[in-house]
Amino acid sequence: MKFFLNNLIKLVKTIDLKYLFRTGKIGNVIIKNRIVRSATYEKRATKHGHITEHLIKMYTDLAKGGTGLIITGTIAVDPTGTGSPYQAYLFDDSYIPGQKKLVDIVHEYSDVKIAAQIGHTGRQGIHPKYPPIAPSPVPLRYSKQIPKELTSEEIKVLIEKFVNTSCRTYESGYDMVQLHAAHGYLLSNFISPYTNKRKDEFGGNIQNRTKILVDIYNQIREEVGKKFPIITKLQTQDFVPGGLSLNESKQITKILVDTGYAAIEPSGGMLETMEGVNTYPSKFIKSSNDENYFLPTAKILKPIMENCSLILVGGIRNPLSAEKILKENFADYISMCRPLLREPDLPNRWKNGDISPAKCISCNSCYNTMMTSEVYCVVKQKLEEKNFDS
Ligand SMILES: Cc1cc2nc3c(=O)[nH]c(=O)nc-3n(C[C@H](O)[C@H](O)[C@H](O)COP(=O)(O)O)c2cc1C
Repeated sequence: MKFFLNNLIKLVKTIDLKYLFRTGKIGNVIIKNRIVRSATYEKRATKHGHITEHLIKMYTDLAKGGTGLIITGTIAVDPTGTGSPYQAYLFDDSYIPGQKKLVDIVHEYSDVKIAAQIGHTGRQGIHPKYPPIAPSPVPLRYSKQIPKELTSEEIKVLIEKFVNTSCRTYESGYDMVQLHAAHGYLLSNFISPYTNKRKDEFGGNIQNRTKILVDIYNQIREEVGKKFPIITKLQTQDFVPGGLSLNESKQITKILVDTGYAAIEPSGGMLETMEGVNTYPSKFIKSSNDENYFLPTAKILKPIMENCSLILVGGIRNPLSAEKILKENFADYISMCRPLLREPDLPNRWKNGDISPAKCISCNSCYNTMMTSEVYCVVKQKLEEKNFDS
């Protein structure tokens, strides 16, 4: 009787999450549910950016755990734009076999899809050999580091790097590619009026500042045909005086939708806003009031995103509120980063009827691990060590 009742309760709870566990489509790619793993820098590749078994294990755990679409941590498009050693790189074809192995293993799990996020550090570069680069030489507020201003020829070369890297993600078997155009990295430096003061075709009005994302899109399309979805994580607000505003990012979104982007994941914040690491893009969450912090942004962008999916990221912790967001059509997918570091099997937990919120306490210790080691959930590790000792 108890067994029967427990199963009945689980069934009722799962029915409550029917929007979360509905299949969806990004471009022509079917996603088995509405749960996305937002890009999470891993630092688990080899020192020179090749895939390791350790990195594959991280993705196997996510694939087993029920996420519908997994987005990788940023893969670097060029040596000048790496965040650190141990990041995954795709500068040339020598990286493809390792990437292909990772993708093939993820695809062995039932209907899991995987997108490669590709990016360049741009103005926030910290490479000891290559100076940071940007559309304009605007110094970083906290370090006073002045990036080198790109010539328009150099911009065209960088566009080619993004296109070639996208082609390599396609050849590796990824289901789609996500251009990282957020958080103060290179592509977001172009769309922001705070970091782009150019007077040429890549600067000035909104159309020009968005040109790099349009050019990259069109050139990838030419190379890979119509079927490979191209999506982006998009800076929608800089949260600095004189920075990108929601009013402008609404117009940028419209341009990208018209260009053909299959999905947009609105985000915001940059190094300048991250002093103390408790703010955008990965905010502390002290109570349920702090959750879903890009929902107001989504509500503004969703009405102009016809034929383009909106992936909502930022403080998604409660499956019932995620369900409500999807049901009310404020987003097509919900996306999580920190919760899936703590619980890679969170989607399955919810699906199987345990609908308590994510265990992640949003302390950002995972963010700090990035400075010195691979990225992991510190709280989870401590709990595991405690259990091992007792
Ligand atoms: C440890 C860590 C690594 C991250 N790495 C990336 C990344 O590689 N690319 C990216 O676009 N965002 C990255 N982010 C931002 C997350 O994808 C996400 O936008 C943010 O943490 C908010 O989602 P959450 O509340 O589910 O964590 C990272 C965040 C953290 C905490």
